[in-house]
Amino acid sequence: MVIIRDVKSLREALREVRMEGRKIGFVPTMGALHTAHISLVKIACERSDYSVVSIFVNPTQFGPAEDFERYPRTPEEDCRLLEAEGVDLVFIPTRSEMYAEDETITIDPGVKAQIFEGRSRPTHFRGVLTVVAKLFNQVQPDLAVFGEKDAQQLYLVREMAKNLQMPVEIIAGPTLRELDGLALSSRNRYLKKAERELATVLYHALTAGVERFQSGERSLEAIRGSMREAINEVPEFEVDYFTAVGDADFEETDPVSEKPRMIIAGRIGSVRLIDNLCPSA
Ligand code: PAF
Repeated sequence: MVIIRDVKSLREALREVRMEGRKIGFVPTMGALHTAHISLVKIACERSDYSVVSIFVNPTQFGPAEDFERYPRTPEEDCRLLEAEGVDLVFIPTRSEMYAEDETITIDPGVKAQIFEGRSRPTHFRGVLTVVAKLFNQVQPDLAVFGEKDAQQLYLVREMAKNLQMPVEIIAGPTLRELDGLALSSRNRYLKKAERELATVLYHALTAGVERFQSGERSLEAIRGSMREAINEVPEFEVDYFTAVGDADFEETDPVSEKPRMIIAGRIGSVRLIDNLCPSA
């Protein structure tokens, strides 16, 4: 496994791979890798001839109140895990490799970046799309894998790739869950024991919404009502938003889309959690 830290060497290494006609699969990450990241890496390895993973804690997607400095950084352990998966190249750029001091051009993520996650994190998706666009330009992958757990991010990355005609296939990696339904996330490690038990409220609310939909209900308010009942079971959960959106357009409509995705976010103690679920086809 090759570890590269600068864009010039990355381009040189990948030029050869491309000349050999090999298909490049890419997983962008911010490191501190866990089982859910590794599941994305497995998909990239299976579906490509040459796999690239980036590790970069992207400063521009953190808001002023979010602690960029405290974000966990475990590059040695990450590389060990990636090597065990048979990853071909790990790209670990420095901040100055990714951003010039005087940079003013960014990707405008559009109106759907202002709702749900964007309401409490107004600059977040601009930062995400800008860094993903840069990484796509650097790696020029044939396919890139993003976790379905960050459904709004996945939607916006797909839209960016489509709208800006980027020649990359965006693949969704399914959400991995603990036995009790809690979605795997880097943030779960910050939950205290009692909070960890309460954290299943997100999954319970999502399944309540999905079950109501599957029973034939299409009224948004009725579906949200079922979700709210589950949420009310856990007063410690400080809900941020919960609703049903169209899976294809992230649009909240009443009646709900025939292909909906239930989404939810909120805090338990100081830990903010998000999750989503679609009715199975
Ligand atoms: O999902 C993440 O880890 C990040 O938002 C990403 C896509 C690596 C961009 O920094």
